[in-house]
Amino acid sequence: MTERLKGKVAVITGASSGIGEATARSFVQQGAYVLLGDIQEDLGKTVAESLGSNAEYVFCDVTQEKQVANLIGQAFEVAGRLDVMMNNAGVVGARAPIDEIDLEQFQKTFEILVAGSFLGIKHAAKVMKPQESGSIINMSSTAGLNGGFGPHAYAAAKHAIVGLTKNSAAELCRYGIRVNCIAPSGVTTPLAAQAHLGNFRAMDELEATLAQNSPLKDRAGTAEDVANAALFLASDESGYTNGHCLTVDAGFTSGSKSGAPQHMSNVPFMREAGKTGLGD
Ligand SMILES: NC(=O)c1ccc[n+]([C@@H]2O[C@H](COP(=O)([O-])OP(=O)(O)OC[C@H]3O[C@@H](n4cnc5c(N)ncnc54)[C@H](O)[C@@H]3O)[C@@H](O)[C@H]2O)c1
Repeated sequence: MTERLKGKVAVITGASSGIGEATARSFVQQGAYVLLGDIQEDLGKTVAESLGSNAEYVFCDVTQEKQVANLIGQAFEVAGRLDVMMNNAGVVGARAPIDEIDLEQFQKTFEILVAGSFLGIKHAAKVMKPQESGSIINMSSTAGLNGGFGPHAYAAAKHAIVGLTKNSAAELCRYGIRVNCIAPSGVTTPLAAQAHLGNFRAMDELEATLAQNSPLKDRAGTAEDVANAALFLASDESGYTNGHCLTVDAGFTSGSKSGAPQHMSNVPFMREAGKTGLGD
């Protein structure tokens, strides 16, 4: 144990499963005290118990302001401060062609993904401003950086997370608080299994599918890959990183693709149409 978060108090929402669970494991292993907020009570309690005395589950629906305030209040009671707030809870939400999406479902998607993150930032900032330190980590997605990576409401909400991250970073920096976000592509969690395969338990099949389509040969992204990014942003190692969106996507959003490389056949020089090579 290298204890990169030694003595820090952290809150993670959506920590009963997937990326939140993997991040809670990593944070505790690195010396933090972690409060796991989630609506999945039995699962959350089981995860927290498996992490020992430095983890605690608290029921929290991120769309309910009082519950978010209570979660952060309980973290504050541990040591009189909050060092890390990770707004991770999420759903895929409304999923349909744009001309068929139900308004209520669209709004509910935004309520969980955007308003839920906003409430986490708001109440973390209340505690972090007086202490003049803290790291807030929001969860975006490759769907929040480019078109075509997810359903419409999800993509719009994840773009909003990037904006909210940059804007709150621009305000909170003067209090020594850093705000960053993470943008993963598909990684092996129940949410991705449900989205890609219609079965949240199909983890092996998901891993095979992700590995097959990954720009990095035979390598699926995992919840632990995202937890590693969160660990960097939570720790003092990222002390000068603020307002940033860290992709964990094997290069998908910067043009990396699976399969044979394009534009890489050996032609010494190409010029305008109708001419090839330097001698033409
Ligand atoms: N898995 C991926 O491929 C992927 C890719 C990009 C971004 N993300 C994002 O990562 C985050 C975590 O997703 P995951 O893949 O680990 O999914 P997951 O389903 O394994 O975990 C999400 C957790 O959020 C909780 N949750 C849902 N609604 C909530 C609410 N209102 N209040 C509190 N908790 C709530 C769920 O109970 C669940 O435990 C999400 O924001 C998701 O959009 C995931």
